[in-house]
Amino acid sequence: MAKGDTNPSAESRIAVHWHEEDYFSPPKKFVDQANLTDQGIFERFSLDHFPDCFTAYADLLDWDKRWDTVLDSGNPPFWRWFVGGRLNACHNCVDRHLDEHGDKVAFHFVAEDEDVPIEDITYRQLHERVNEFAALLQDFCGLKAGDRATLHMPMVPELPIVMLACARLGVIHSQVFSGFSGKAAGDRIADSGSRVLITMDAYNRGGSLVDHKEKADIAVKQAEALGQHVDQVLVWRRYPDRHSSDTPMVDGRDHTVQALLKKYKGKKVAPVSMPAEDPLFLMYTSGTTGKPKGAQHGIGGYLSYVTATSKYIQDIQPQDVYWCMADIGWITGHSYIVYGPLALAATSVLYEGAPTVPDAARPWRIAEQLGVTIFHTSPTAVRALRKLGPDEPGKHDFHFKHMTTVGEPIEPEVWRWYYKAVGKGEAVIVDTWWQTETGGFLCSTVPGIHDMKPGSAGPALPGIHPVIYDDHGNELGPGEGAGYICIRNPWPGAMQTIWGDPDRFVRTYYERFCKDPKSKDWRDWPYFAGDGAMQSPDGYYRILGRIDDVINVAGHRLGTKEIESAALTVDEIAEAAAVAVPDSVKGMIPELYVSLKPGIDADSSIGDKVVQAVATEIGAIAKPRAVHIVPDMPKTRSGKIMRRVLAAISKKEDPGDVSTLANPEIVDRIRELNG
Ligand code: WTA
Repeated sequence: MAKGDTNPSAESRIAVHWHEEDYFSPPKKFVDQANLTDQGIFERFSLDHFPDCFTAYADLLDWDKRWDTVLDSGNPPFWRWFVGGRLNACHNCVDRHLDEHGDKVAFHFVAEDEDVPIEDITYRQLHERVNEFAALLQDFCGLKAGDRATLHMPMVPELPIVMLACARLGVIHSQVFSGFSGKAAGDRIADSGSRVLITMDAYNRGGSLVDHKEKADIAVKQAEALGQHVDQVLVWRRYPDRHSSDTPMVDGRDHTVQALLKKYKGKKVAPVSMPAEDPLFLMYTSGTTGKPKGAQHGIGGYLSYVTATSKYIQDIQPQDVYWCMADIGWITGHSYIVYGPLALAATSVLYEGAPTVPDAARPWRIAEQLGVTIFHTSPTAVRALRKLGPDEPGKHDFHFKHMTTVGEPIEPEVWRWYYKAVGKGEAVIVDTWWQTETGGFLCSTVPGIHDMKPGSAGPALPGIHPVIYDDHGNELGPGEGAGYICIRNPWPGAMQTIWGDPDRFVRTYYERFCKDPKSKDWRDWPYFAGDGAMQSPDGYYRILGRIDDVINVAGHRLGTKEIESAALTVDEIAEAAAVAVPDSVKGMIPELYVSLKPGIDADSSIGDKVVQAVATEIGAIAKPRAVHIVPDMPKTRSGKIMRRVLAAISKKEDPGDVSTLANPEIVDRIRELNG
């Protein structure tokens, strides 16, 4: 990307037309109570104090054995944090709170069905339930430290319970978003090498009870096809007194968790003292190839980082009621519903359903009823709530002190509604930029220190030192235009590797701007985030979107290749290309262009089949808004499909220079077909 070029990706378009925005100062009332107001933190976390500065984060945790080395960077880019230290993540999130906070609510569980009473789970109850399930995992499943278990669970308290039970034993959990298909779960089971799948029979979403057990059967079959045998499927019942799915249980393989748990009632399992560097969990995320990457996060570094950022950026305090509306199936939920807040003994809301069920005032009723003070969600949810019920927040008596936006750029207009209508002008907003790979926030204002600027993530967090490079690896300073955002230094929350594929890890995240592949100095290995960004003269970063073939739909990353491979499972399809087009609610949404095999006539059923295939292979979240059947794809002379041209047609924009195409005439034909 050339200096001053402000268009690193098609997705960046919305952002680059934004002009500089006015600042909003954090309310005095917020600053007076904030966890972090000392500007000196940035000096203490400067590169001169790296990496020792991060011991302040690790000191927020209980350690069985203190580390010998803060950072071992001897084998770049496989950074090892708090080496020699031992701890247990479950102990830190549960056991250590019992004396002081045993009767404090850890989770207010709110079912989607509004008639169902809210269920409060205290830290003591969480401790009991986690222990019983850990006993089951250990005794009935024979799982031990280092084994992997795949979870395909909806947003219910049993999900954090299972995660914490795994963490207690040192078992590596891999939670697959419940909205993903059985096939997608099966791919992830196989890649992680899990022989146990933990799921639920059904859950409520969008006003109906979804059969989830049927996905388990498909997942196991898919995993078998890929060479991974699953010998136990643990099925929680959504409603303990009945089976809520029509899919039968498979004899000898499937087990109802509530029935098994009877044997473990009151059982206690000591937390296993784990090396800080052992993996805590895997979280699969989309990349440029069809195969999702298992981002591996370690115990000590990750937990230190999410605990500190929950404290200083989320500003969670003992008396707060915190609600992160994200799904635990994504990294936001792992870091900022489960591990960070629980490590701080926070009280959280856990909500099963969709934000606009039964109407767009649902979140505000919950906030009022439970006295929520911190609210955390995505621009997509904010856009939907604004569209469907712009005046609803004002009708409810709730008062947030702090709000978060995460996952995609937020338009300044939408930001201002969030600030005025939802925050009622009383709340700070943090726009947190980060990724599955980064474990926790990288850029955001520190809410008790900085002014906010709509549409900008803000400066980097303490101890995070970004740099923006142009195509040639020259650094672009503040005000010098858009480029590739990288992080100069390692930080404790960063992923350790891609599960089973260290080469891909190096290639994807560290090769691009590596100064010397032989170097043993971390300074030569900046982390490549894959986002386009620019830094304003005030030092704030504006994130422009992905520069790879990843579409960010409703804040969730979907690989274009994954969507295209799904389309290609339909017999009639010869070629497929997925492009991202702007959507007023979801930010971006895929459209598909497909060409048919010779001799096949276009008819409307083909589009439906393609949509269905995408839902089956990946999940409903990836469904394309439109499937365009085209006679041929615009291609370069080397045969590469020019997605940029298709995207321009979808967006009714000028496709620009098409002279490099082997078949430039196709552009007009496709445009005519699209109407
Ligand atoms: C995008 C979600 C603009 C970005 C935590 C990143 C954002 C990808 C922001 C990661 C933000 C995340 N402003 N864009 N505040 N936060 N993104 O792995 O493109 O699901 O690379 O992690 O979302 O998505 P992921």
